[in-house]
Amino acid sequence: MALGKDESRHGMWSSRWLFVLAAAGSAVGLGNIWKFPYVAGENGGGAFVIIYLVCVALVGLPIMMAETLMGREGRHSPINTMRILSQEGRASGFWGVIGWMGVGAGFLILSYYGVIAGWALYYIFEMARGTFDAVTPETAGQVFDDFLANPWLMLLCQTVFMWLTIYIVGRGVIKGLETAIRLFMPLLFVLLLVLLGYGINSGGFQQGLDFMFRFNWSSIDADAWLIAMGQAFFTLSLGMGAIMAYGAYVPRDASITSTVATIAILDTFVAVAAGLAIFPVVFANGLEPGQGPGLMFVTLPLAFGQLPLGAVFGVVFFVLVSFAAITSAISLTEPALAYLVEEYNAKRARVAKSLGVLCWLLGIGTVLSFNAWQDVKFFGLTFFEAVDFVSQNIMLPLGGLLIALFTAYVMPKAIAQSQLGATDGPLWWLWKLLIGLIAPLGVLVVFIVTLFPCAQTLSCFGA
Ligand code: PHE
Repeated sequence: MALGKDESRHGMWSSRWLFVLAAAGSAVGLGNIWKFPYVAGENGGGAFVIIYLVCVALVGLPIMMAETLMGREGRHSPINTMRILSQEGRASGFWGVIGWMGVGAGFLILSYYGVIAGWALYYIFEMARGTFDAVTPETAGQVFDDFLANPWLMLLCQTVFMWLTIYIVGRGVIKGLETAIRLFMPLLFVLLLVLLGYGINSGGFQQGLDFMFRFNWSSIDADAWLIAMGQAFFTLSLGMGAIMAYGAYVPRDASITSTVATIAILDTFVAVAAGLAIFPVVFANGLEPGQGPGLMFVTLPLAFGQLPLGAVFGVVFFVLVSFAAITSAISLTEPALAYLVEEYNAKRARVAKSLGVLCWLLGIGTVLSFNAWQDVKFFGLTFFEAVDFVSQNIMLPLGGLLIALFTAYVMPKAIAQSQLGATDGPLWWLWKLLIGLIAPLGVLVVFIVTLFPCAQTLSCFGA
């Protein structure tokens, strides 16, 4: 196939807006609606939320710009893009590690992402059955516990989700995504606003607000920093090449800065809205904010159970969450698929299937983490927690660190400037400061503080 110099063989977004939609589709997912509220709850709220927001702004945003511009410059899968960019920058092949590690991280994340998305699918069914009509907190908790105790049912839901994802992925990202995202993203926003309205009237809103934004340093330890940063990477789909892969399909005339800012704002808005919808329900019902991964599955059914037409809203909501999860899952597979297609001229649908089956197999470990293997621990973590921890909190920030360093110090200045449409001037230096210093230093400091918690109080240095 003959390609113009500025095209990707996998296709192109038909406009800048489609990139915004696709990248927002990748970013907005379980990370915002399911994960953000529960990790914020586990880490004491307030200060955690603020650190997370700072990480999004100072570390996430510049790295997202870097990934997009690298993708658009390389116009290939992240693995090959890194090869091309390394040659352009006359750098060693070492930087290819960004692409390879990203494929690994995407694989690990998708393995459990499929399981949790399966929970959302299951809740469509429970909502439709009317299980939660005027439900009590105890029953809502019981329904969730019963579900977790049933590995076969969970496996079935995971299988359905993975099948759907692979089916869509096999047909080609661009075609599959455009329709889904145009329609469902706006609807998801509307429903979150409805839930937010319920939260405001639930009697627990003030407490929920306090919990999320009251600045309480004492709840923050070294691990909380690592988790907040990992969450920033996870929620923006950064550090593993998903955005780089999508960046490869961005038309040349789109402005990267404003595009990326729009995506980050949308993503943050959804996460904060989900938190503001969930925590008031937690407090109005005397529930535990730090209860872990079940938080959304116990609180939101309670809210729907009280709302007029709640079962209908509930069904629609979980359908939308499942869609948000699919659009994210698709982006998790894109770096690996694009590479296999480039390298072996393989058929997309066929490689998608093989990858899907492998992820599905690994996901069985996550399914069992909630029942049969509940007590099997690696360094005190269940299988699910370990896969989640390593991929989100180690691999993504490490990938992000390398991406920042590469863009700042290896990529020729002329290329970066032409991609960003920048010239020497204050804005260019602000960008250099963020990508070359603040973002990489942020990641490094957090890694050091986690490895050596004493660094937090400077006591390692005898202070
Ligand atoms: N950002 C997605 C979410 O919040 C998850 C994701 C992570 C997708 C990394 C792609 C890459 O659910």
